[in-house]
Amino acid sequence: MSDLFKASFEIILPPAQEPIHNSEAPIGIFDSGIGGLTVAKAVHELLPNENLIYFGDTAHLPYGDKSTAAIQSYAIKICNFLLSRRCKVILIACNSAAAAAFDLVKTYVGSKAHVFSVIEPTVALVTQRFAGKNVGLIGTKQTVSSAVYEHQIEQERANIHLKALATPLLVPMIEEGFITNRVSHEVIENYLSRPELTDIQALILGCTHYPLIKKEIVAYYQQQVEVIDSSEAVAHSLKVALEHTQLLNKASTPASMQFYVSDYTEGFEKATQIFFGEALHLEKFPLWD
Ligand code: DGL
Repeated sequence: MSDLFKASFEIILPPAQEPIHNSEAPIGIFDSGIGGLTVAKAVHELLPNENLIYFGDTAHLPYGDKSTAAIQSYAIKICNFLLSRRCKVILIACNSAAAAAFDLVKTYVGSKAHVFSVIEPTVALVTQRFAGKNVGLIGTKQTVSSAVYEHQIEQERANIHLKALATPLLVPMIEEGFITNRVSHEVIENYLSRPELTDIQALILGCTHYPLIKKEIVAYYQQQVEVIDSSEAVAHSLKVALEHTQLLNKASTPASMQFYVSDYTEGFEKATQIFFGEALHLEKFPLWD
């Protein structure tokens, strides 16, 4: 950690707060933008009783090309916001943010909330099901260059050979709505046929946006490779963790969902339909003004 970053990190530490043991408290989910809505959607579908607060850092989108220090500073500021809303859980829905800032966020949040990310549940699933096999990973430059998946998989000693490839064109492609046309077909085929991904038995979709092109990826492999959607894995492991800590919301009142972004354009709001399956109202919460 650079001295400059250390200094700003110390200054923004929030006042001590009691840990949240209230099952009705919200689950805070954050992402670099609206792509993390794929994770929020999976969580909402599996845990419809849970109150959700979503924060998309659209002012700094995309995280995939940012430095680790920059992403860490954004993540801490977003955590302060979610802690101020008394979230019982902070879920880092963004692979790039989890790769850059998970350990820091966990230390920073301490006992004030439970911290989860999209990476650990995916690693757990892969090591249980693909021991001794070759597993591919596609993600942003930040996620792939951090080698976080390699390190965590190695720790499990499951004899998995991880073959990773950064696929930076996929995020802008999906955001432009190129999902099932000639352009997306060409780009997907070009990436998946690279030597880095040969001879794999499973492929991790290591980015919030990729579940939207899962069908095309599955079709490319013609059932020969299992395609792992981390949004589903993370929702399941969150459910298990909430049960285990007795934090599952059993209230009969309808769950509330609030969606905040750090910068607002109509385009973001329109795109929520793609990522969440329904149009959502985004509220601007300018953390950086
Ligand atoms: N949310 C990011 C991730 O999962 C993708 C978009 C970005 O680069 O910010 O890695």
